Amino acid sequence: MCGIVGFTGMQEAAPILLDGLKKLEYRGYDSAGIAVMSGKTISVNKVRGRIANLCEKTKDGTSVPGPTGIGHTRWATHGAPTEENAHPHLSNDGRFAVVHNGIIENYLTLREELLRDGYQFQSETDTEVIVHLLELYYKGNVRDALLKTANRLRGSYALGVICSDEPGKIYAVREASPLILGVGIGENYFASDVTALVSHTRNVIYLDDGEFAELSGMSIRIFDCSGTEIRKKTTRILWDVQAAEKGGYEHFMLKEIMEQPGAVRAAIAPRIKNGKVIFEELGAFLPALPDIRKIIITACGSAYYAGCAGRYALEQLCGIPVEVELASELRYLNPLVDGHTLLIVISQSGETADTIAALKECKSRGAKTLAIVNVVGSTVAKLADCTVYTWAGPEIAVATTKGYTTQIAVLYLLAICFADHLNRLGKDEAAMLDTLQALPRRIQQAIDMNPAIPELAKKYHENHAFFFIGRNTDYAVALEGSLKMKEISYLHAEAYAAGELKHGTIALIDEHQPVIALCCNPFIMEKTLSNIVEVKSRGAEVLALTFRDNQKILPVADDLLFIPKVDALFSAVIEIVPLQLLAYYVAKENGCDIDKPKNLAKSVTVE
Ligand code: AGP
Repeated sequence: MCGIVGFTGMQEAAPILLDGLKKLEYRGYDSAGIAVMSGKTISVNKVRGRIANLCEKTKDGTSVPGPTGIGHTRWATHGAPTEENAHPHLSNDGRFAVVHNGIIENYLTLREELLRDGYQFQSETDTEVIVHLLELYYKGNVRDALLKTANRLRGSYALGVICSDEPGKIYAVREASPLILGVGIGENYFASDVTALVSHTRNVIYLDDGEFAELSGMSIRIFDCSGTEIRKKTTRILWDVQAAEKGGYEHFMLKEIMEQPGAVRAAIAPRIKNGKVIFEELGAFLPALPDIRKIIITACGSAYYAGCAGRYALEQLCGIPVEVELASELRYLNPLVDGHTLLIVISQSGETADTIAALKECKSRGAKTLAIVNVVGSTVAKLADCTVYTWAGPEIAVATTKGYTTQIAVLYLLAICFADHLNRLGKDEAAMLDTLQALPRRIQQAIDMNPAIPELAKKYHENHAFFFIGRNTDYAVALEGSLKMKEISYLHAEAYAAGELKHGTIALIDEHQPVIALCCNPFIMEKTLSNIVEVKSRGAEVLALTFRDNQKILPVADDLLFIPKVDALFSAVIEIVPLQLLAYYVAKENGCDIDKPKNLAKSVTVE
């Protein structure tokens, strides 16, 4: 996720662009840039790192004259966070500058075509194909060039464009990434969200997918995807700036829970092409797969639990034994790894000390290493032989949500990709791909199916302990559900393999600690039901997570959470969502600092 802004009017643009980028910095902050037009001259300034570096380079914008411009603050997805990869990107003829938020899924095909046509690329980004397509299609009319360019793009994009042939004008194009126009007096704006606009104007126009706008200081014209001019209503913003950063949500954690359908889509959609899972990043890696005799997944915290959830698909589809090891343990285990071991390292931040140490230890012993990371260019990403990014966008809340679900989504994709490469997929491939492509919708359903969670939180928030129980894939999700409850509500919670309760822990079960029972795996449903009856008979209140048509559990559970039915091999990213929301609302009831829980850090960079 990145942030884009645009301004045109009578004032100097640069200081306004920088102010807007500061308000959007939570959307991405590994590099930034502005392009400002004065007369027919476009000047571009870009930096690696935070907006502050750009302010320093441009003397708070005072060294860059001009009343029209666009700006960008980046969260790298394609290409490391460098000045070259920072936006805005310029066309070879210097006539166009572009900023982009989103992912161009067919950028490699377009890049090859443009290279063949003689265009020079200055960056590794997906975005740069846009500015060269504009140059290719421009015959004197910017709107026509925008339409032709947009018709070639697949994926998500919110674009800001300026053209030196049209001083005083900025263009905004929206497809599956947010883009809002700010309506001023003698000046107009665009931005990724209202955060960057409310200090200048509270009158905004929300563009919809397929629409684009031409803005000058005195006018805003909006067009649909056929180029027909349309009229849209102006909305008055009543949010304050701080609320706007969170998209109107009270906490970043809730915002990031709600972002999961989009985040999981961003992780999955670009990697399913023509009925196959295609990882551009794995090209040189796959030939070594037949020599792999063992896979070890290693990580910490929720990333470890993501490994626990994804291992089932990996092991069952690839037929390779999979071990999941805590990195803080693996690093001192004297691990038995060699050239026939594939180490999969999972880390949202890519900077977790234990995870880095385990990666180094196993790499030094000859293991092949593949990283699943969210932060582009992070230490884990640099150390691993091969890195696959989750493209979840910046995750501000300390307690991970979309970071976790996108890690599992990538593991699902890898399982199918590896199995396909090992000729082990057979006839189920198409059905599995359909299931994966439907996951974003299923996650949204899991959110929509549980409106009563805030009420359930009011009922359970005063309990001092919870048990999360489940079997197989349900147990893996119970581990993460338990951690979410602990780390943001400070209530004790323990995840337990349901079949293990009778070996001692059931001694603790009574009416004082509710049991949250995950019952979403038909293969072992009957067994989990028995465990629920066992804990019920010892007085426990049971909150069950299951399918709406699970008639057997309805008379047994005291309360219910529902998810849509999905193959249990791929259901973890759905099951966890109601548990994330339950933990969130329990913590809210208890007045906890949800985005910054006590004692925790977003990335544990020390041992
Ligand atoms: C998740 O809610 C926690 N904040 C924590 O367990 C985290 O998952 C763990 O520290 C690993 O972080 P990483 O994914 O950045 O390596």
